[in-house]
Amino acid sequence: MTIERITTAEVAPDELALESTVRPRRLDELAGQDRVKENLAILIDAAQHRSEPVDHILLYGPPGLGKTTLANIVAAEMGAQIRTTSGPAIERAGDLAAVLTSLGKGDVLFIDEIHRLSHVVEEILYPAMEDYALDVVLGKGPGARTVRLQIEHVTVIGATTRVGSITGPLRDRFGVTYRLDYYTHADLERILGRSAEILGIALTDDAAALVARRSRGTPRIANRLLKRVRDYAQVRGGGDGGVTQALAADALGLLEIDDRGLDAMDRQLLRAMAEHHSGGPVGLATMAATVSEPVETIEDVVEPYLMQIGLLARTSRGRQLTPGGWEHLGLKPASSASAQPGLFDG
Ligand SMILES: Nc1ncnc2c1ncn2[C@@H]1O[C@H](COP(=O)(O)OP(=O)(O)O)[C@@H](O)[C@H]1O
Ligand SMILES: [Mg+2]
Repeated sequence: MTIERITTAEVAPDELALESTVRPRRLDELAGQDRVKENLAILIDAAQHRSEPVDHILLYGPPGLGKTTLANIVAAEMGAQIRTTSGPAIERAGDLAAVLTSLGKGDVLFIDEIHRLSHVVEEILYPAMEDYALDVVLGKGPGARTVRLQIEHVTVIGATTRVGSITGPLRDRFGVTYRLDYYTHADLERILGRSAEILGIALTDDAAALVARRSRGTPRIANRLLKRVRDYAQVRGGGDGGVTQALAADALGLLEIDDRGLDAMDRQLLRAMAEHHSGGPVGLATMAATVSEPVETIEDVVEPYLMQIGLLARTSRGRQLTPGGWEHLGLKPASSASAQPGLFDG
């Protein structure tokens, strides 16, 4: 078992309460993602004018950037009910059929981790999304026949961290696809300010700026760090519980989160690449083994951020430390002579 990382972008079970308290409910409460927000506003407006449900929407991007939040906001803005499920949760075709027939006109079916739907379940979804129909097979063998049941016009919203794993036919059935990007520091400061207000935390502007810089462009992490910084300020702050920049820096230092939001495990990974592999290229499996994390975690969560901030680059032969990556470790790039395999292993 691995120790829970404070910088993980996945939601921890004991965080659900925090998440729902600070989760924006309306489009105008949402910071950042301006392009997605504008597109969604138009989509929703147009659908409302026609008194029709919104088109099916596919949202993708790293965890913690607001996919679940956006799905809920679309339903709220449409005045619709939302049913939430996920790819791995739907085991049989019948389970999905049951959910689909229970929905009313305009309701939203949110399928998280949609890339993990099984093939048979996915096949149910095609006619449901395209024709609002379920094809039910009655009987077995030569006498079997298919009957088509109509369902209400519903909106399917799918979310995924790996859009590349979604089959072509499924992708094609979404009217719109939006990619969520990492947030800017300014957006994260706004999110932190809003969360602090909701949670009744006195957070100075420069403390918000410091936490924002270390949040990996990810609102979920920003909110989590805010909570930890608040705890620290209460215990060590000597009085009013307010969070100053100095207290925030101390708190995050204690958690070993550096000025770019990297934690001890990220640095261990980068250092291993530098010291044992001359900076790479290194395969994903090797990287995963280095820090005892699943390959998927490296691919979906760890490396996208390290690439985003320019410490790691993808090459045809694997991942490689960039000059910025070496610099962040305080090391000099390995010369090509030391790039011989095995030099450090002997
Ligand atoms: N644009 C945003 N503005 C404010 N808070 C946000 C925003 N996006 C996400 N959050 C916060 O981050 C948390 C994680 O968002 P979520 O929608 O669950 O991410 P995802 O589904 O992509 O993993 C939510 O609790 C929400 O409070
Ligand atoms: Mg989610």
